[in-house]
Amino acid sequence: MDFGMQNRLFRIINPKDNKTVMLAVDHGYFMGPTGGLEEPKKTIEPLLAYADSLMLTRGILRTQIAPSFSIPLVLRVSGGTSILKDDLSDEDITVSMEDAIRLNVCAVAISIFIGSDHERQTIVNLAKLIDKGNKYGIPVLAVTAVGREMARDVRYLSLCCRIAAETGASIVKTYYCEDFEKVVKTCPVPVVVAGGKKVSEKEALNLAYNAVKHGASGVDMGRNIFQSVNPVAMIKAVKSVVHDDITPDEAYDKFIAKFIG
Ligand code: 5RP
Repeated sequence: MDFGMQNRLFRIINPKDNKTVMLAVDHGYFMGPTGGLEEPKKTIEPLLAYADSLMLTRGILRTQIAPSFSIPLVLRVSGGTSILKDDLSDEDITVSMEDAIRLNVCAVAISIFIGSDHERQTIVNLAKLIDKGNKYGIPVLAVTAVGREMARDVRYLSLCCRIAAETGASIVKTYYCEDFEKVVKTCPVPVVVAGGKKVSEKEALNLAYNAVKHGASGVDMGRNIFQSVNPVAMIKAVKSVVHDDITPDEAYDKFIAKFIG
Protein backbone atom coordinates (compact mmCIF):
# COMPACT_ATOMS: atom_id res chain seq x y z
CA MET A 1 0.00 0.00 0.00
CA ASP A 2 1.41 3.40 -0.87
CA PHE A 3 2.20 6.03 1.74
CA GLY A 4 -0.73 8.33 0.98
CA MET A 5 -3.35 5.60 1.18
CA GLN A 6 -1.89 4.21 4.42
CA ASN A 7 -1.47 7.63 5.99
CA ARG A 8 -5.10 8.51 5.26
CA LEU A 9 -6.30 5.20 6.71
CA PHE A 10 -4.26 5.80 9.89
CA ARG A 11 -5.91 9.20 10.20
CA ILE A 12 -9.31 7.51 10.20
CA ILE A 13 -8.56 4.40 12.27
CA ASN A 14 -6.25 5.33 15.11
CA PRO A 15 -3.14 3.08 14.83
CA LYS A 16 -2.69 3.18 18.64
CA ASP A 17 -5.67 0.89 19.18
CA ASN A 18 -6.94 0.29 15.63
CA LYS A 19 -10.30 1.83 16.55
CA THR A 20 -12.34 4.77 15.37
CA VAL A 21 -15.36 6.82 16.31
CA MET A 22 -16.61 8.18 13.01
CA LEU A 23 -19.41 10.70 13.30
CA ALA A 24 -21.90 10.12 10.46
CA VAL A 25 -23.87 13.17 9.36
CA ASP A 26 -24.40 12.28 5.69
CA HIS A 27 -28.07 11.28 6.10
CA GLY A 28 -29.42 14.30 4.21
CA TYR A 29 -28.18 13.00 0.85
CA PHE A 30 -31.34 10.90 0.62
CA MET A 31 -33.28 11.79 3.79
CA GLY A 32 -33.25 15.58 3.53
CA PRO A 33 -33.25 17.57 6.81
CA THR A 34 -33.00 14.59 9.17
CA GLY A 35 -34.03 15.17 12.79
CA GLY A 36 -31.12 16.73 14.64
CA LEU A 37 -29.45 17.91 11.43
CA GLU A 38 -31.92 20.63 10.44
CA GLU A 39 -29.16 23.18 11.03
CA PRO A 40 -26.09 21.00 10.53
CA LYS A 41 -23.45 23.45 11.73
CA LYS A 42 -25.13 23.93 15.11
CA THR A 43 -25.28 20.18 15.70
CA ILE A 44 -21.96 19.14 14.22
CA GLU A 45 -19.52 21.78 15.48
CA PRO A 46 -19.73 20.96 19.21
CA LEU A 47 -19.15 17.27 18.42
CA LEU A 48 -16.03 17.65 16.30
CA ALA A 49 -13.61 17.70 19.23
CA TYR A 50 -14.68 14.17 20.19
CA ALA A 51 -14.93 12.42 16.82
CA ASP A 52 -11.97 10.71 15.14
CA SER A 53 -13.41 11.46 11.74
CA LEU A 54 -16.47 12.98 10.13
CA MET A 55 -18.57 11.34 7.40
CA LEU A 56 -20.59 13.86 5.40
CA THR A 57 -21.59 15.13 1.98
CA ARG A 58 -19.89 17.72 -0.20
CA GLY A 59 -22.65 20.28 0.28
CA ILE A 60 -22.61 20.14 4.06
CA LEU A 61 -18.82 20.20 4.12
CA ARG A 62 -18.65 23.30 1.94
CA THR A 63 -21.38 25.24 3.70
CA GLN A 64 -21.33 24.10 7.33
CA ILE A 65 -17.78 23.13 8.29
CA ALA A 66 -15.08 25.74 8.74
CA PRO A 67 -11.88 24.81 6.87
CA SER A 68 -9.94 25.53 10.07
CA PHE A 69 -11.17 22.25 11.60
CA SER A 70 -8.52 19.58 11.12
CA ILE A 71 -10.78 16.56 11.56
CA PRO A 72 -10.22 13.74 8.99
CA LEU A 73 -13.05 13.70 6.48
CA VAL A 74 -14.88 10.76 4.88
CA LEU A 75 -16.87 12.10 1.95
CA ARG A 76 -20.13 10.46 0.85
CA VAL A 77 -19.83 10.29 -2.94
CA SER A 78 -22.85 8.18 -3.88
CA GLY A 79 -26.48 9.20 -4.25
CA GLY A 80 -29.29 9.70 -6.70
CA THR A 81 -32.29 8.51 -4.69
CA SER A 82 -34.55 9.84 -1.93
CA ILE A 83 -36.77 8.45 0.81
CA LEU A 84 -39.76 9.15 -1.45
CA LYS A 85 -38.76 6.16 -3.58
CA ASP A 86 -39.48 2.61 -2.48
CA ASP A 87 -36.19 1.47 -3.94
CA LEU A 88 -33.15 3.24 -2.52
CA SER A 89 -30.67 1.17 -4.46
CA ASP A 90 -30.54 3.11 -7.73
CA GLU A 91 -27.39 5.03 -6.77
CA ASP A 92 -24.53 6.38 -8.79
CA ILE A 93 -21.26 8.15 -8.09
CA THR A 94 -22.16 11.79 -7.44
CA VAL A 95 -18.78 13.42 -6.71
CA SER A 96 -15.63 13.18 -8.83
CA MET A 97 -12.44 11.93 -7.22
CA GLU A 98 -10.78 15.19 -8.24
CA ASP A 99 -13.31 17.21 -6.27
CA ALA A 100 -12.93 14.88 -3.27
CA ILE A 101 -9.17 15.47 -3.37
CA ARG A 102 -9.76 19.23 -3.68
CA LEU A 103 -11.82 18.97 -0.49
CA ASN A 104 -8.84 17.28 1.21
CA VAL A 105 -10.69 14.14 2.26
CA CYS A 106 -9.09 11.08 3.88
CA ALA A 107 -11.55 8.66 2.29
CA VAL A 108 -14.64 8.49 0.12
CA ALA A 109 -17.78 6.49 0.92
CA ILE A 110 -20.22 4.74 -1.37
CA SER A 111 -23.16 2.40 -0.75
CA ILE A 112 -23.61 -1.02 -2.28
CA PHE A 113 -27.03 -2.67 -2.28
CA ILE A 114 -26.56 -6.43 -2.31
CA GLY A 115 -29.65 -8.36 -3.35
CA SER A 116 -31.38 -5.25 -4.72
CA ASP A 117 -32.51 -4.48 -8.25
CA HIS A 118 -29.38 -2.37 -8.67
CA GLU A 119 -26.88 -4.74 -7.08
CA ARG A 120 -24.66 -4.93 -10.18
CA GLN A 121 -24.67 -1.17 -10.78
CA THR A 122 -23.66 -0.39 -7.20
CA ILE A 123 -20.88 -3.00 -7.11
CA VAL A 124 -19.51 -1.76 -10.43
CA ASN A 125 -19.66 1.82 -9.10
CA LEU A 126 -17.70 0.69 -6.04
CA ALA A 127 -15.09 -0.93 -8.30
CA LYS A 128 -14.77 2.20 -10.45
CA LEU A 129 -14.39 4.38 -7.38
CA ILE A 130 -11.70 2.08 -5.97
CA ASP A 131 -9.78 2.23 -9.26
CA LYS A 132 -9.87 6.04 -9.11
CA GLY A 133 -9.01 6.04 -5.41
CA ASN A 134 -6.03 3.77 -6.00
CA LYS A 135 -4.74 6.18 -8.63
CA TYR A 136 -4.60 9.01 -6.07
CA GLY A 137 -4.13 7.10 -2.78
CA ILE A 138 -7.67 7.72 -1.52
CA PRO A 139 -9.24 4.84 0.46
CA VAL A 140 -12.83 3.83 -0.24
CA LEU A 141 -15.31 2.98 2.50
CA ALA A 142 -18.15 0.73 1.31
CA VAL A 143 -21.48 1.18 3.08
CA THR A 144 -23.56 -2.01 3.12
CA ALA A 145 -27.12 -3.00 3.98
CA VAL A 146 -28.87 0.38 4.00
CA GLY A 147 -32.57 -0.01 3.21
CA ARG A 148 -35.93 -0.69 4.75
CA GLU A 149 -36.96 -4.30 4.39
CA MET A 150 -34.10 -6.72 4.80
CA ALA A 151 -32.89 -9.39 7.16
CA ARG A 152 -29.72 -7.92 8.56
CA ASP A 153 -28.46 -11.29 9.77
CA VAL A 154 -24.98 -12.76 9.89
CA ARG A 155 -25.38 -14.54 6.54
CA TYR A 156 -26.50 -11.44 4.66
CA LEU A 157 -24.07 -9.04 6.33
CA SER A 158 -21.12 -11.42 5.81
CA LEU A 159 -22.05 -11.63 2.14
CA CYS A 160 -22.24 -7.84 1.77
CA CYS A 161 -19.01 -7.15 3.66
CA ARG A 162 -17.05 -9.82 1.86
CA ILE A 163 -18.20 -8.61 -1.57
CA ALA A 164 -17.17 -5.06 -0.62
CA ALA A 165 -13.74 -6.25 0.54
CA GLU A 166 -13.22 -8.52 -2.49
CA THR A 167 -14.01 -5.56 -4.74
CA GLY A 168 -11.22 -3.67 -2.97
CA ALA A 169 -12.81 -1.46 -0.32
CA SER A 170 -10.40 -0.35 2.40
CA ILE A 171 -13.06 -0.15 5.14
CA VAL A 172 -16.55 -1.64 5.26
CA LYS A 173 -19.46 -0.22 7.16
CA THR A 174 -22.28 -2.49 8.17
CA TYR A 175 -24.78 -3.22 10.95
CA TYR A 176 -24.29 -5.17 14.14
CA CYS A 177 -25.97 -8.59 14.32
CA GLU A 178 -25.95 -11.80 16.30
CA ASP A 179 -22.73 -13.78 15.65
CA PHE A 180 -21.12 -10.56 14.44
CA GLU A 181 -17.63 -12.02 14.95
CA LYS A 182 -18.29 -14.19 11.87
CA VAL A 183 -18.88 -11.06 9.78
CA VAL A 184 -15.53 -9.65 10.94
CA LYS A 185 -13.67 -12.95 10.61
CA THR A 186 -14.68 -13.36 6.97
CA CYS A 187 -14.00 -9.75 6.00
CA PRO A 188 -10.28 -9.09 5.40
CA VAL A 189 -10.54 -5.30 5.94
CA PRO A 190 -11.66 -3.26 8.97
CA VAL A 191 -15.39 -3.26 9.67
CA VAL A 192 -17.15 -0.32 11.34
CA VAL A 193 -20.70 -0.43 12.63
CA ALA A 194 -23.53 2.00 11.93
CA GLY A 195 -25.82 2.93 14.79
CA GLY A 196 -29.09 2.73 12.91
CA LYS A 197 -32.35 4.29 14.06
CA LYS A 198 -32.38 6.13 17.39
CA VAL A 199 -32.66 3.83 20.38
CA SER A 200 -32.06 4.60 24.04
CA GLU A 201 -28.58 5.80 24.96
CA LYS A 202 -28.04 2.63 26.96
CA GLU A 203 -28.92 0.43 23.97
CA ALA A 204 -26.67 2.41 21.65
CA LEU A 205 -23.75 2.12 24.09
CA ASN A 206 -24.37 -1.61 24.36
CA LEU A 207 -24.32 -1.86 20.58
CA ALA A 208 -21.00 0.00 20.34
CA TYR A 209 -19.51 -2.14 23.10
CA ASN A 210 -20.66 -5.44 21.61
CA ALA A 211 -19.56 -4.46 18.13
CA VAL A 212 -16.03 -3.65 19.30
CA LYS A 213 -15.91 -6.70 21.59
CA HIS A 214 -16.76 -8.89 18.61
CA GLY A 215 -14.13 -7.42 16.34
CA ALA A 216 -15.42 -4.17 14.86
CA SER A 217 -12.84 -1.43 14.34
CA GLY A 218 -15.25 1.04 15.86
CA VAL A 219 -18.44 2.81 14.93
CA ASP A 220 -19.68 5.09 12.19
CA MET A 221 -22.55 6.45 14.24
CA GLY A 222 -25.02 9.21 13.48
CA ARG A 223 -28.56 9.38 14.84
CA ASN A 224 -27.77 7.78 18.17
CA ILE A 225 -25.33 10.61 18.76
CA PHE A 226 -26.87 13.69 17.18
CA GLN A 227 -30.46 12.81 18.17
CA SER A 228 -29.47 12.12 21.78
CA VAL A 229 -30.85 14.38 24.50
CA ASN A 230 -27.21 15.40 25.01
CA PRO A 231 -25.14 14.75 21.86
CA VAL A 232 -21.83 15.88 23.38
CA ALA A 233 -22.22 13.65 26.45
CA MET A 234 -23.26 10.80 24.16
CA ILE A 235 -20.30 11.03 21.79
CA LYS A 236 -17.98 11.15 24.81
CA ALA A 237 -19.65 8.03 26.19
CA VAL A 238 -19.37 6.24 22.83
CA LYS A 239 -15.73 7.26 22.61
CA SER A 240 -14.94 5.81 26.02
CA VAL A 241 -16.60 2.51 25.08
CA VAL A 242 -14.70 2.28 21.78
CA HIS A 243 -11.28 3.57 22.83
CA ASP A 244 -11.07 3.16 26.60
CA ASP A 245 -12.64 -0.25 26.87
CA ILE A 246 -15.10 0.79 29.54
CA THR A 247 -18.37 -1.10 29.95
CA PRO A 248 -21.62 0.30 28.53
CA ASP A 249 -22.97 0.62 32.10
CA GLU A 250 -19.99 2.72 33.18
CA ALA A 251 -20.28 4.81 30.02
CA TYR A 252 -24.00 5.30 30.63
CA ASP A 253 -23.32 6.44 34.22
CA LYS A 254 -20.86 8.98 32.83
CA PHE A 255 -23.44 10.07 30.25
CA ILE A 256 -26.08 10.59 32.95
CA ALA A 257 -23.59 12.44 35.19
CA LYS A 258 -22.66 14.80 32.33
CA PHE A 259 -26.27 15.28 31.41
CA ILE A 260 -27.35 16.14 34.93
CA GLY A 261 -24.19 18.10 35.68
C1 5RP B 1 -26.69 6.27 5.45
C2 5RP B 1 -25.39 6.20 6.13
C3 5RP B 1 -25.26 6.73 7.52
O1 5RP B 1 -24.07 7.42 7.64
C4 5RP B 1 -25.26 5.56 8.46
O2 5RP B 1 -26.49 4.91 8.42
C5 5RP B 1 -24.81 5.88 9.89
O3 5RP B 1 -25.69 6.59 10.57
P1 5RP B 1 -26.66 6.00 11.66
O4 5RP B 1 -25.78 5.64 12.86
O5 5RP B 1 -27.59 7.12 11.95
O6 5RP B 1 -27.33 4.76 11.12
O7 5RP B 1 -24.43 5.72 5.58
O8 5RP B 1 -26.61 5.69 4.21
